Amino acid sequence: MIHENLLETLGATPVVRLRKLLPRPQDRIHVKLEGANPSGSIKDRAALHMVEQAERAGLLRPGATLVESTSGNLGKSLALIGAVKGYRVILVVDPKTPRSVLTYATSLGAELVTVTRPDAGGDYQAARLRRVRRLVEEIPGAHTLDQYNNPGNPEAHRLHTAQEIVKDFDRLSALVATVSTGGHLSGLGTALKERFPALHVRAVDAVGSAAFGHPFHPYRMRGIGLSWRPGNLDPAPVDSLHRVTDTEALSVCRVLAAEEGLLLGESGGAAVFAALGYAAANPGEPVLAIAPDAGANYLYESYDDQWLRDHGIPLDTLWRSAEDLLRHVRHPLHPPAPVAAGPVAASGYGQVTTGGGPA
Ligand SMILES: Cc1ncc(COP(=O)(O)O)c(C=O)c1O
Repeated sequence: MIHENLLETLGATPVVRLRKLLPRPQDRIHVKLEGANPSGSIKDRAALHMVEQAERAGLLRPGATLVESTSGNLGKSLALIGAVKGYRVILVVDPKTPRSVLTYATSLGAELVTVTRPDAGGDYQAARLRRVRRLVEEIPGAHTLDQYNNPGNPEAHRLHTAQEIVKDFDRLSALVATVSTGGHLSGLGTALKERFPALHVRAVDAVGSAAFGHPFHPYRMRGIGLSWRPGNLDPAPVDSLHRVTDTEALSVCRVLAAEEGLLLGESGGAAVFAALGYAAANPGEPVLAIAPDAGANYLYESYDDQWLRDHGIPLDTLWRSAEDLLRHVRHPLHPPAPVAAGPVAASGYGQVTTGGGPA
């Protein structure tokens, strides 16, 4: 198939069924591999949708400047979109942004602005967002997408990602999806419940994230969680919340790679950990976990033994065999709990205390 440009290859991501890492042989756990998108993550979908909406609304004119705060995948998506569509892209990053992200972005022509002074709690999210607002004021024709509150973010998943899933499944018992801005969980949860009314929607957050109102503390996983409650997190379609630890998610990443050949990103590991828990309690029921990106983003970080040691997670603290991991899946450190429906008040960036944050 011939495409006019790389952005046209977005979507239609593969779904792979687990064969070995299963609580029971008859279990049906599937993983949607969003790392197959053109810049390597699920963020391509929301980014392109929000950019196209801004173009239609006349907010982005040819040659305009996109300014965004990012610690990873959104920056990669915007760098790609900017290169293909001819926008200047300025990414506000911080000293924790992985080198692979910076190199990808600059290779595609994006400019970097690095925030070096952390917030009071030691992280950079709020400082990055303040810098974005300043740059947008200063640069004529500059625009920022605001992925935390822009309704185009969940809409991309309602209109596109969900329809791919509906085509792939005649029956689905549970959707398991991670949260940062809430975009894909909210969009998919809402759309898939229309098609599968009995669907159980399980949100997956990092232990340490404040996205669902828990007190914030730093954690290692990237891409998942947030240090405030985002406006795009709609709790209405969410039935339960599983808060996953770094150890649980990174153990899944290592075992999945060795047992199934699936090299997932850290949040994908968290999603599969939660999906295994759902399957253990609901034998044989079809479950779909969303893996937002691939391990290629983390080869020299969480897939590197020395990096793990240097960051306080020695390899021997992870569950390394499928048997050990599955034993642990039945007794997770934080068992899933129901989520009350009703609006989650979005808290302002000003309430950010420290770390975490979306890619
Ligand atoms: C690796 C990774 N995991 C999870 C998420 C969470 O996705 P969302 O922002 O749709 O909640 C993101 C979003 O950037 C991500 O990059």
